Amino acid sequence: APGRVLELLGKSYPQDDHTNLTQKVLSKVGRNLHNRKFHPLWLIKERVKEHFYQQYMGRSRTPLFSVYDQLPPVVTTWQNFDSLLIPADHPSRKKGDNYYLNREHMLRAHTSAHQWDLLHAGLNAFLVVGDVYRRDQIDSQHYPVFHQLEGVRLFSKHELFAGVKDGESLELFEESSRSAHKQETHTMEAVKLVEFDLKQVLTRLVTHLFGDGLEVRWVDCYFPFTHPSFEMEINFRGEWLEVLGCGVMEQQLVNSAGAQDRIGWAFGLGLERLAMVLYDIPDIRLFWSEDERFLKQFRLSDINQNVKFQPLSKYPAAFNDISFWLPSENYTENDFYDIVRTVGGDLVEKVDLIDKFEHPKAVGNSVLDTQETTIMADVQNEQSSSSAPQLLKLACLATCETHRTSHCYRITYRHMERTLSQREVSSVHQAVQEAAVQLLGVEGRF
Ligand code: PHE
Repeated sequence: APGRVLELLGKSYPQDDHTNLTQKVLSKVGRNLHNRKFHPLWLIKERVKEHFYQQYMGRSRTPLFSVYDQLPPVVTTWQNFDSLLIPADHPSRKKGDNYYLNREHMLRAHTSAHQWDLLHAGLNAFLVVGDVYRRDQIDSQHYPVFHQLEGVRLFSKHELFAGVKDGESLELFEESSRSAHKQETHTMEAVKLVEFDLKQVLTRLVTHLFGDGLEVRWVDCYFPFTHPSFEMEINFRGEWLEVLGCGVMEQQLVNSAGAQDRIGWAFGLGLERLAMVLYDIPDIRLFWSEDERFLKQFRLSDINQNVKFQPLSKYPAAFNDISFWLPSENYTENDFYDIVRTVGGDLVEKVDLIDKFEHPKAVGNSVLDTQETTIMADVQNEQSSSSAPQLLKLACLATCETHRTSHCYRITYRHMERTLSQREVSSVHQAVQEAAVQLLGVEGRF
C-alpha cells in the first residue's frame, strides 16, 4: 500500500503504485545460489570463470576478464532499461513482466543492467553473474527467479586489427548508414572481426562445457542494445534450445559510458538452461531444493567432472481446477500466477489456462443487478426531463458492460520429495481460491 516502506538488503524503498513484489519472490532475494559452493549453478559459473581465466590473458598473464558475482539485484529502471537504450514505451518495461520495488527501483530483469556502470568504471572486459527476476508463467522450465552470466569485451583499434596483415590503415569508425549487418558508425571490417571473435569465444565456451560434437547454430534476432544481434542455439537430444543472446554493442551505449574509442561485443546466457541440459536436471524448481538427496549429487572433487542427476523418485501429481469471473478491469494472468506461487509455493508444478469463456449476457451478475435496480429506481423517481440520460446509461450497461469473462485454470500440485495427501492439496487449493478473491477481486465459481 502507498505510504508504506519496503526494506530489502538493508535499504528502504517507499512503495507506490508500481510496487508489485511478492513475499515469495522477496524470500529468494539474497539466496545467491550462484555463490553457494557445489550448487549446480555455482559449478557452471566456476567452469565458465576457469575457462575465461585460462583462455584469455591480459598483459603479464593476468586474467583479461574480471568477474562480478556479488552485485545486488536491486537496480534502477534507468540501469535496467534506459542505459541500454530501451525506449520508454517498450513492452519489456510492463508491470506485468517485472518486479518493481517502486517507480524508480526494480529487481534486475537481466544482468545487462550492469553493463553501463562497469564500462563507465573503465573496464574493458568483464563477466557478471547474478540472479534475475521476471514475472512469468509457471512450469518445469520457468521460475520467477533465474540466473544469468553476462560477458562484455571492448577492443581498441590496435587490439582489434593487431592480427591483420598490413592492417595499419583500417579504422573502427566511419559515417555511413545502418544495415542488417552493421551500425551506422561502424566500419564493416571492424564489425566482422568483432562478430567473429564473439561467435568464436562463445563456441569455445560451450564446447568446453559440453565437449566436442555439440551442434551449435546462430539465429538472427533483435535487442535494443546490440546490433547485429544473435541467439545461440544448441542441439540437445534433437531439439534446438536457445541458450544465449548476444551481439555487437550499440555504439551509443559504449560512447555514453565514456569508451568512445572502442568497439565491443556482449552476451548474456541463462545458467539454469545450461545446467538442466548439462546435468539432466528435469525441473527448474530443483535448483531451490534444500534436499540433501539433490545437493549431494553435485559435491564434486573436480568442477569439470561429468555428472548426471539421478532423479528423486517421482511422486504422483494432484490436479485441481479453479474458475472465476474476471474483474471488469486490471486483471492480468501473471497476477494470478503470482498468487498461486505465493500461496502454493513449490507444491505448484504448473498452472494452465484451460478454458476462457465470455458470457453473452448479464445473467447472474449480482453487481450489475444492483446497479440496474438502483438506476431503475432513479428512473422511476425522477421526472421525465432527467430520465432520458439514465435510460441511456441503462442501455449501455445492458450492451457493453455485461460481457464478463471467466477463466478456468488447472493447477498441478506435486511435491518433489513425497506424496501429497488429498487433504493437504485441498487446503492449499482453498487458500488459493480465497487469495484470488481477496487480492484480485475475481468472483469465484467454486
Ligand atoms: N539481456 C539479454 C536477455 O536477457 C541477453 C543479452 C545480453 C543480449 C547481452 C545481448 C547482449 O535476453
